[in-house]
Amino acid sequence: MIKNICCIGAGYVGGPTMAVIAQKCPHIKVTVVDLNEKRIAAWNDKYVNNIPIYEPGLSDVVAEARGRNLFFSTEVDKAIDEADMIFISVNTPTKTYGVGKGMAADLKYIELCARQIARVAKNDKIVVEKSTLPVRTASAIKDILDNTGNGVQFQILSNPEFLAEGTAVEDLFAPDRVLIGGDTTPEGQKAIQQLVDIYANWVPNDKILTTNVWSSELSKLTANAFLAQRVSSINALSELCEKTGADVNEVAKAIGLDSRIGPKFLKASVGFGGSCFQKDILNLVYIAKSYGLNEVADYWEQVVIMNDHQKRRFAKNIIKTLYNTVSGKKIAFLGWAFKKDTNDTRESAAIFVADDLLSEQATVTVYDPKVDSAQIQFDLNYLETRSEEANNKGVQTVDNPYEACKDAHAIAVLTEWDEFKTYDWQKIYDNMLKPAFVFDGRNILNKEELEKIGFIYQGIGSR
Ligand code: NAD
Ligand code: UGA
Repeated sequence: MIKNICCIGAGYVGGPTMAVIAQKCPHIKVTVVDLNEKRIAAWNDKYVNNIPIYEPGLSDVVAEARGRNLFFSTEVDKAIDEADMIFISVNTPTKTYGVGKGMAADLKYIELCARQIARVAKNDKIVVEKSTLPVRTASAIKDILDNTGNGVQFQILSNPEFLAEGTAVEDLFAPDRVLIGGDTTPEGQKAIQQLVDIYANWVPNDKILTTNVWSSELSKLTANAFLAQRVSSINALSELCEKTGADVNEVAKAIGLDSRIGPKFLKASVGFGGSCFQKDILNLVYIAKSYGLNEVADYWEQVVIMNDHQKRRFAKNIIKTLYNTVSGKKIAFLGWAFKKDTNDTRESAAIFVADDLLSEQATVTVYDPKVDSAQIQFDLNYLETRSEEANNKGVQTVDNPYEACKDAHAIAVLTEWDEFKTYDWQKIYDNMLKPAFVFDGRNILNKEELEKIGFIYQGIGSR
C-alpha cells in the first residue's frame, strides 16, 4: 500500500490535486515540491487565504490537511527519496525554440524530473505522469529512468488531470472519471491497482477507468481538443448569427437540447483562453504532422485559427464601432482572467484584445476581482509588441469597477465574473462619456436593461 507520495510541481494542478488526495487519504503522507521558493512559501503561508492559487473551496481543503499529512517543500531530492509514488506535475508549455517551435510541447522540465528521480531513487518507485504529455512520452521517461538510475525498478503510469480551473475542488471531489494508464505486464497492473486504491478512497469504482498507457496519454489531448472544438464551433457560428439576425444563445439552446449534442460548452465568447487548450491542440497537430497525417493536423489546427480570429474580431469591432478610431480613448475592461473564479490569466483573450487596442493608441483601464497590476503588465510585456514603458503608460489597473468605467468611451467585458451582473449600471452610465458603449464578450449582461438605461450594447453572436 502506498504510504508516501511526492508530487513535483506545486502549480494549478499539483497543488489542488495533492491537497485533495491528502484530505481524502489521511493515512498517506503527501509532499508537494517545487523549485519556485516563492510559490512554496505562499503555499506555506500561515494565512491560508494567501495560498498562491485562487480556487473556490481550496483554502479550506489546505487548511484541513496542511501540517497533518500535506506538506509543501523545496527539498525535491528528499521528497523523491522518501516516496513510494511520485507524481510529475510540472509545466509542459509550447516550445519557443528549435524544432517544433510554436507547436510541440516542451518536455525539458519533464526530462529534468525523470533524471532527478533516476539519480535519487534508491528503492522501487511508481512514477505517475500527471502533466499533459504527447502520446508515447512514457517510453522516453522509462528510457531515462532505466538507463540512468541506480538499478531500481520503475513503473510508469499515466494519470492525466481533467479538472477545470475555477471548479478544481469540485471537479476533484466528484470527477466524471479518473483515467489511469499503465503497462499490461503483471507489474504494470499491480502499479495501476495501487493508484486505483488511492482514488477509491472517495471516487466510486465505476468512475475509475484503466487503460494502456498510450490510450491514456492520447485521451487527455483528445478531451481538450474536443472541448475547445465546441467553443470554436459555436464561436464560428456567432459570426454568422451577427450577419443573419439569428441569436447564438438561441441556436446554442436549440442544438444543446439534442441529447446527442448536449448543452455544455456551447457558450459563445470572445475566445477561449487558459494555459492548455491552445497548447494541447498545437501539440496534437504537431504529433499528427510528425506521423505525416497532414489532413488530421489541418483539421485540428483550424480550432486554434478560429479562436485567434474570434479574439481579433472582437477588438476590430470595438474600433469600428467607436467611429474607426480609439486613439486617446479610454476603454474599460471588466475582467482579465481567462475565465471566472480563477486568478489565472494565461492565454486570456483579454491580453490579445488589449494588445490590439493599445496598438490603435487606446488607453485601457482594467478591473479584475482577482488579478493585480503586476500580472497584467507581465502578460502584455510577454507579447513583446511594444516597450514595457508603453504598456505601462497604456494600461492602468484599478481595484474598483466604477473607477475603471468612469469617463470611459466604452466598456468591454472580457471575463464572466458573476459580480459584473450586479453592478449599478445606471451609475456607471451616468459617469461615462456618451454615447456609452458596452461590448459584452461573455453575453452575461442584460441587453434590454442596459439599452433602457441608454447604453449601446453589443454582445457576441446577436444583433
Ligand atoms: P504550473 O506552471 O502552474 O505549475 C508547474 C510547476 O512546476 C511550477 O510551479 C514550476 O516551478 C514547477 N517545476 C517545473 N520544473 C520543475 C522541476 N524540475 N522541479 C520542481 N518543480 C518544477 O502548471 P499547471 O497549470 O499546474 O500545469 C501542469 C501540467 O498539468 C501541464 O502539463 C498542464 O498541461 C497540465 N494540466 C493543467 C491543467 C490546468 O487547469 N492548469 C489542467 C489539467 C492538466
Ligand atoms: C480545460 C478543460 O475543461 C479541463 O477538463 C482540462 O483539464 C483543462 O482545460 C486543462 O487541461 O488544462 P480550463 O482551461 O481550466 O479547463 O477551463 P474551461 O472551463 O475548459 O475553459 C477554457 C476556456 O474556454 C475559457 O476561456 C472559457 O471561458 C472558454 N469557454 C468555455 C467558452 O468560451 N465557452 C464555453 O462554452 C466554455
